[in-house]
Amino acid sequence: MIRWGVLSTARIADRIVDGARGAENAEVTAVGSRDLARARAWADERGVAHAYGSYEELLASDEVDAIYIPLPNSLHVEWSVKALEAGKHVLSEKPLTRDPAQVDHAFDAADRAGRLLMEAFMWRFHPQTEEVVRLVRDGSIGELRVIRAAFGFNLPWMENVRWDPALEGGALMDVGCYCVSAARLIAGAEPERVSGEQVLGGGGVDARFTGLLRFPGDVLATFDCGMDVHRRNQLEVVGSEGTIFVPSPWQTPLGAKIVLTREEAEELSPESVDPYTRELEEFGRAVEGGPPPRLGRADALGQARTIEALYRAAESGAAVSL
Ligand SMILES: NC(=O)c1ccc[n+]([C@@H]2O[C@H](COP(=O)([O-])OP(=O)(O)OC[C@H]3O[C@@H](n4cnc5c(N)ncnc54)[C@H](OP(=O)(O)O)[C@@H]3O)[C@@H](O)[C@H]2O)c1
Repeated sequence: MIRWGVLSTARIADRIVDGARGAENAEVTAVGSRDLARARAWADERGVAHAYGSYEELLASDEVDAIYIPLPNSLHVEWSVKALEAGKHVLSEKPLTRDPAQVDHAFDAADRAGRLLMEAFMWRFHPQTEEVVRLVRDGSIGELRVIRAAFGFNLPWMENVRWDPALEGGALMDVGCYCVSAARLIAGAEPERVSGEQVLGGGGVDARFTGLLRFPGDVLATFDCGMDVHRRNQLEVVGSEGTIFVPSPWQTPLGAKIVLTREEAEELSPESVDPYTRELEEFGRAVEGGPPPRLGRADALGQARTIEALYRAAESGAAVSL
């Protein structure tokens, strides 16, 4: 059993609490918050044994082996490094950072401490995602040509970490990063050149972002993401001989579904499982000496380099080569 400590009372942490309940090797044993009363209430409501009134106390606790970090984006690396230096393994929420140098800083800390660090892209752990990759690699749609992804929702401008530039909010950081993750995964490579357009909103973050990525082998990817649009989730992979469409690629509240179209459309139903459970189980097995987690330094670097280049492209109005 890996004993998990949750660093903050973030909304998303409930997915990890639920995920751990279904996992064979994970147990949430503690929470730390900037406010002790908040930590206690959170722990009591969820049957979590230990509550601490500061993040430092959680990191010093003997009751946890690993720390889950669902802090605002700007704090992921700082607290990942502190947790690693305290001897804990770390699962940090996405995006770990938009700065490639900070990715290295965090993974260097993990190497020095002899502990594991992973960026928590739970969608990568869903069998639906694995099936899409298998179909592409098997040549089910011929030669890979185009990847199209979208992730959007409508969040009125209010006090929320997503609208705050100081906390590194923004649509690309919050949800566009999934589209970037998908394009890189399916292309099986890093982009050579990117372009981007953004519309600012809220306190000055990107409310909407569209990106274009060119990959080796003449594979193109486009995506749009937004925090001021009607809910949109989709992934389409276009090959020379067919297409793959995933109506719910990031979260699968309605169950997993893939539409594979060659001569005719065929509906595939991958196993529906909780990706948070799978994420925790795989990480836990790696902690116990199993294979390394599927998302390591190289993937986090690819993510950060691409996100950083997309922002640079949108700010300058010119394509950016990587
Ligand atoms: N993988 C996924 O499915 C998924 C889904 C949603 C979000 N996320 C990621 O998870 C992270 C948290 O998102 P969320 O929506 O859950 O955030 P949230 O509810 O706003 O929680 C963030 C927590 O961080 C702590 N915090 C520390 N400093 C803060 C500050 N200056 N301002 C605000 N909060 C501060 C607070 O906890 P205390 O007051 O207890 O200290 C707060 O509850 C983000 O990085 C986001 O991208 C991932």
